[in-house]
Amino acid sequence: MSRTLQSSAVRLIAAPPAQVDVDLLVVPLFEGEPIAESLNGLDSATSGEASRAVTSGELKGRPYDFFFTPVTSEWKARRIALVGAGRASELTLDRLRKLAAAAAMQARQKCIDRVAFLERGGLDGPGAVQAIADGLTLSAFSADQYKSGERLGPPPAEFTVVVPAERGTSIRELGDAVERGCVLAESCNIAKALSNEPSNVLTPREFADRAARIGRDAGLAVDILDEHQIARLDMGLLLGVARGSAEPPRVIVLRHEPSGAPSSPVLGLVGKGITFDTGGISIKPADGMERMKDDMAGGAAVICAMRAIALLRAPIKVVGVVPATENMPGGKAVKPGDVLKGASGKTVEVINTDAEGRLVLGDGLWYAQQLGATHLIDVATLTGACAVALGRAASGLFGAPEDWVQFVRETADRSGDRCWPMPLFEEYADQLRSEIADMVNSGGRPAGACTAAMFLKEFTGGLPWAHFDIAGVAWADETKPYQPKGATGVAVRALAELAFALKP
Ligand code: BES
Ligand code: MN
Ligand code: ZN
Repeated sequence: MSRTLQSSAVRLIAAPPAQVDVDLLVVPLFEGEPIAESLNGLDSATSGEASRAVTSGELKGRPYDFFFTPVTSEWKARRIALVGAGRASELTLDRLRKLAAAAAMQARQKCIDRVAFLERGGLDGPGAVQAIADGLTLSAFSADQYKSGERLGPPPAEFTVVVPAERGTSIRELGDAVERGCVLAESCNIAKALSNEPSNVLTPREFADRAARIGRDAGLAVDILDEHQIARLDMGLLLGVARGSAEPPRVIVLRHEPSGAPSSPVLGLVGKGITFDTGGISIKPADGMERMKDDMAGGAAVICAMRAIALLRAPIKVVGVVPATENMPGGKAVKPGDVLKGASGKTVEVINTDAEGRLVLGDGLWYAQQLGATHLIDVATLTGACAVALGRAASGLFGAPEDWVQFVRETADRSGDRCWPMPLFEEYADQLRSEIADMVNSGGRPAGACTAAMFLKEFTGGLPWAHFDIAGVAWADETKPYQPKGATGVAVRALAELAFALKP
């Protein structure tokens, strides 16, 4: 299996913790948990330091609190880190993943080479080891490649997930789960790296080149459409947005076509690939505009989910489509009031050139249908309004029909990418009426996230469709114990999981 990003090996062993020979053994500790009873031998292995830390109140078991102590007895690990895991009754796979990520990031900062994480807490075995492997692998990410001074050292060379010797599940099944966790985290890390790239580096052409490399390395079929092919397909919405830029647009197409896959369903994933969004002629204010380099985070999620889908061998056909362009002002740029015609034949009066995402996605959704998609999902940093509605806590989820959206929601939540259902009332269509074309591209301020989704719905051909508005969650303004600030890699796991959950 080829790996694009440098990441550590994660091995799995079933053994008593005393026998794990590593530089650091990480042990989750729950709130109110007495050390001596539940962690047999650990207290004496640390000469009583563990229980002293609990008694003194230094370690309360609150999430992401760490306590490092040397090992002094016959335990093979050189050091132990107790990591607060919150209440045992509130442990989830998502929490477990974040605990492992926080521990591995600490280990990386301390230049520790071999790190083990003890699985405990009674969650489902394969799910738990997948979450741990996923979290540990996340620590391979860093965003300091443009720093010429001090940089973070490499991630730990070796990770180990330790499960109790007497686990019911076969070690083979657990090993597969570890592999899943690694691939998902690597794919998430690659998505973050792409979204963090400045737009002078990650132009649409460079984005396409990198996607092609990622796709080929993972065994996907790759097609990159250039501006001429895009014109031949009459993708006037994408071309309209691209007009203002000196950089030509691209459409990135990745296909997963496993032999023996049923002809239906075909999952179509469409990602917004705006490598920089100035707003165009309806230009954005200068304050905070630098963040608009991540306006291709939806596209990155699609590309990197496709990577995971291929490496993990999803049983169904999946196509990924990413229309990629800059949104720039300029002498040739689309202007407010201009009318564009998309490949589907629909005409759009562009009343705000900053509502560009829905335009390129309109052509992207159309193209996914040309490639045979029977079920559509798009992911986009689409509206500031969605970030206002839901904050940093969840993506907005829109779509139709109801049962499909419910299925997408459950699958996404299970994967760790939380989303929240938003309405598509038919009244929103009234806000998109144009005097001279089929639609305008902006419904104004009221229900801005909903009218944007309503616009996209016009391009879904009545297929089951779901739309993730990730504007609020694609970027973290603050560093968390389990996640550096910057791009978050949101939706990679949800999309990958969907390719396994969608049944013929
Ligand atoms: N890329 C932006 C949305 C965005 C804003 C993402 C802030 C992340 C943070 C999108 O292209 C946009 O500009 N949307 C407009 C739509 C409006 C003109 C109808 C918006 O949200 O203001
Ligand atoms: Mn915009
Ligand atoms: Zn945008």
